[in-house]
Amino acid sequence: MKDKSIQPIDHEKVMREDDFIVSKTDPKGRITYGNRIFFEFAGYTEEEILGVQHNVIRHPDMPRCVFNLLWVRINAGEEIFAYVKNMSRDGSYYWVYANVTASLDINGNIVGFYSVRRKPSAAAMEIIPSVYAALLAEEQKHPAKDQIAAGTAALEAKLNELGVSYDQLVYQLQG
Ligand SMILES: Cc1cc2nc3c(=O)[nH]c(=O)nc-3n(C[C@H](O)[C@H](O)[C@H](O)COP(=O)(O)O)c2cc1C
Repeated sequence: MKDKSIQPIDHEKVMREDDFIVSKTDPKGRITYGNRIFFEFAGYTEEEILGVQHNVIRHPDMPRCVFNLLWVRINAGEEIFAYVKNMSRDGSYYWVYANVTASLDINGNIVGFYSVRRKPSAAAMEIIPSVYAALLAEEQKHPAKDQIAAGTAALEAKLNELGVSYDQLVYQLQG
């Protein structure tokens, strides 16, 4: 149900210090739950969004390699902390600091995923938008089938230059 007619606009919605944006999905990434603040920021009602793929709020500025990293980690049953730029229904954007985890049954099978998002730190917002813009630019030099590999290589090069892993970068920035 992703509405391709939504155009990004240069208007930011900023999370409040005490906000938690929560959502849950099934194993395929379809939304099964959102809290009140999730719907407020996304701009959809519960009825409109339940059962819909989580990429409904994907912002076109996001590099594909970041979502690839997210899915590799959560499909392996590991958690990830990541910065994500999201797009509301009205085209405005909002940055989040997301923690995404897999929910497992007693046999260790993935039954869904869970995400809690906080306001990103000011330090992160000084760095991450330009890092992601560079990754996206790199991806866009390649045909679709090679974009994730190209973005991932550029991300690894950037992390090597900084001497940190993605996790270390995120933890340092969030403080
Ligand atoms: C629990 C959970 C939460 C997610 N939250 C977001 C989110 O806030 N924004 C987003 O763009 N993608 C989120 N995703 C990732 C999307 O499922 C999707 O991979 C991403 O939007 C990229 O879309 P695409 O694969 O169509 O390019 C989440 C996935 C899961 C499992």
